Amino acid sequence: MKEFYTLADLQSWGEKGKSPVRLGVFGDPVAHSLSPQMHNAALENLGVKERYGRFQIGADELRTGLELIRCLNFIGINLTLPHKTTALPLMDEVDDAARKSGAINTVLVEGEKLLGFNTDGPGFLHAIRSEFSVDLRDLRVLLLGAGGGAGRAIAMQCARENCERLVLVNRTLEKAQDLAKELAPYFSGSRVLGPVARLQAIPWDETSLRFQLANTDLVVNATSVGMKRSDPRLLAASLLAPHLMVYDTIYTPMRTPLLAAAADAGALGANGLSMLLHQGALSFEIWFGRKAPLDVMRAALL
Ligand code: ATR
Repeated sequence: MKEFYTLADLQSWGEKGKSPVRLGVFGDPVAHSLSPQMHNAALENLGVKERYGRFQIGADELRTGLELIRCLNFIGINLTLPHKTTALPLMDEVDDAARKSGAINTVLVEGEKLLGFNTDGPGFLHAIRSEFSVDLRDLRVLLLGAGGGAGRAIAMQCARENCERLVLVNRTLEKAQDLAKELAPYFSGSRVLGPVARLQAIPWDETSLRFQLANTDLVVNATSVGMKRSDPRLLAASLLAPHLMVYDTIYTPMRTPLLAAAADAGALGANGLSMLLHQGALSFEIWFGRKAPLDVMRAALL
């Protein structure tokens, strides 16, 4: 297996016949993706001969790439940046949750058809349950980075679970406000929490954050801030407190600056590996219609 394949590889498979790779992830960049090690461990464990590969596919190659997996009889693929939103209109059918979240991360090839799903939100739900032994629906959530694709999927899942309260924080406030408008119907019920609103979009400033964090159980980072050494600190440790659970969707590095701040403040923290694992397991279940070997996949990631 190559570290990653390209559109040219897919085209040559069409001409020259079969490769064992019938699953994969399309992305740009894609070389860092841990999905192959997780899925190939599961495939081997179950005695399935097909393999999962990385595909370096640029934005302008997506349409052709999708046509090729249809012709090559792939089982399915995952989509990562920059394809999650742009792939939506290229599907033959999209499930309801994926349509509402405006993005897909999983494609199932069924005969001639490409079916789109999104397992990011449900993967997040399972990750929170497994990391903190709590259910999203019982939590007051503050989401940092509500303007991006991951933030949107997480916000949508919080809304679908009807979590106790959801605070959307984004550097560009308008995006959080637009999302809050869209999610308002999910929060119109009579669950009353006292002086704070159940659904709010707030600017990224210390005063607003400090007030909201006093009425929060779970803080989630859905921005990419923390992946690069040069990244600014997302939140000052002084804003965090021991009652908080902090979930960082980033997993490289494993101990992100936000998680270091959480530990300094005495708060519980977990990184995004569990979300990667659970979204992957749910994709696997869509492709094979059977339970994914979660322990095997987890061990492969660790
Ligand atoms: P995606 O491709 O998933 O949409 P993105 O465009 O990189 O990812 O943005 C992800 C999120 O990270 C956005 O909410 C973005 O905020 P803006 O909507 O204001 O752009 C947020 N983000 C990125 N860099 C940030 C930074 N330095 N500080 C705060 N938020 C940041």
